[in-house]
Amino acid sequence: MNTVVVIGQGYVGLPMALRAAQVGHSVTGLELNETVVENLNRGVSHIGDIGEAELSNALSKGYIASADPACIERADVVVVCVPTPLGAGGGPDLGAVENAAHTIARHVKSGTLCILESTTYPGTTEEIFGPIVAGNDLEIGSDLFVAFSPERIDPGNEQYGVKNTPKVVGGITDACTAKARDFYQSFIDTVVPAKRAREAEMAKLLENTFRHVNIALVNEMVRFSRELDIDLGNAIDAAATKPFGFMAFRPGPGVGGHCIPVDPSYLSHRVKAKLGYAFRMVELAEEINQAAPGYVANRIRNILNDDSKAVRGARILLLGVAYKANIADQRESPADPLALRLLAWGATVRYHDPYVSQWRPRGTDQTFDSVTDLDGEMRESDLVVLMQAHDYYDLSAMNDADVEVLDTRGVLEGKRVHGL
Ligand SMILES: NC(=O)c1ccc[n+]([C@@H]2O[C@H](COP(=O)([O-])OP(=O)(O)OC[C@H]3O[C@@H](n4cnc5c(N)ncnc54)[C@H](O)[C@@H]3O)[C@@H](O)[C@H]2O)c1
Repeated sequence: MNTVVVIGQGYVGLPMALRAAQVGHSVTGLELNETVVENLNRGVSHIGDIGEAELSNALSKGYIASADPACIERADVVVVCVPTPLGAGGGPDLGAVENAAHTIARHVKSGTLCILESTTYPGTTEEIFGPIVAGNDLEIGSDLFVAFSPERIDPGNEQYGVKNTPKVVGGITDACTAKARDFYQSFIDTVVPAKRAREAEMAKLLENTFRHVNIALVNEMVRFSRELDIDLGNAIDAAATKPFGFMAFRPGPGVGGHCIPVDPSYLSHRVKAKLGYAFRMVELAEEINQAAPGYVANRIRNILNDDSKAVRGARILLLGVAYKANIADQRESPADPLALRLLAWGATVRYHDPYVSQWRPRGTDQTFDSVTDLDGEMRESDLVVLMQAHDYYDLSAMNDADVEVLDTRGVLEGKRVHGL
């Protein structure tokens, strides 16, 4: 078993650190945010998927959170899970990755395996992360081992977690790949070595771009399907009976989260910067998916119009403002641009979300509280918009509700339910 430091104790780093501790590695979670460090050491988790039982179990096995980078001096393995938000030019802002790499360089000992997990463009590990951690004195592949391993965590997914989601690894040299494979194999069921770091980096962006493009495909199809009087949801169900060569994606109000709307542009940015031409599929998918909340707003306007109502002054209830079902994360949620548009049109916007008690849509200076009397608010609304089908919602009650409902998820079928 190894002495492991996981840098960044957020959605990605904390589950990884706890899983490694569970199998017997001696794990320190290195985190800049001292409040998070204190809370973790007291057994208080800030990540929805990590329950207190899991955290206290790891603490009892020696897991500790710390803000002191000196722990790297004892580490056999350092895993970096820091944020890579969208930078000004469309590529990732690598500030946190570079910071973490410099911290490692100041403390690392010879023989350590350093793994980058943060999502980024192909080439980052070889061109930026590796050279910084190795500095001038250490040779990668003999004195120090450097690899990339993309994170595939899916918040709220109860079936697939750290242990049973196959993990791709790719090192700068073959020796780096082998070391990273051996490390992950100690606590993850299936480890998949890629040819090099850049192929592992590309695998992650391919996965997210695949989702982005396929969601854009159905988001575009849903618009003309309505005009052609075709029930696209029913057509997708029919197509999905094909046992090979098809994967069902469903239209929705737009893509959210920090991965799907963000990561593919790291790839298009890299292609443009290095090669000078566009990655057109990504650009098109971005255009279509970014337009989806505007399409929902237009559907709202048309439904109200059919009911002889104007948007201005209408009371509109949005259900689920998180970016996906059954989680609280609101990053890049399509509910935000939708709310912005409805407010600009003069609507009275209210919302309910069992996971989000207060909501301030991006681009507004208004803060909303989740309504407490959901049934009463539904009765008072001119239109209810189902944005996220959280398990909390009683769909059969919504089907029977005495109010017009716009279902952006294709899960309702009541008489007063309208589709996208
Ligand atoms: N959350 C997901 O579902 C998910 C899925 C796949 C990939 N990723 C990728 O994984 C990476 C991490 O994402 P996340 O969602 O865990 O981010 P997060 O914001 O939840 O957590 C990152 C943590 O790192 C800490 N941090 C930043 N710089 C640090 C430093 N130099 N030293 C110590 N701590 C530092 C921050 O304080 C924060 O607590 C990103 O590149 C993201 O794109 C995330």
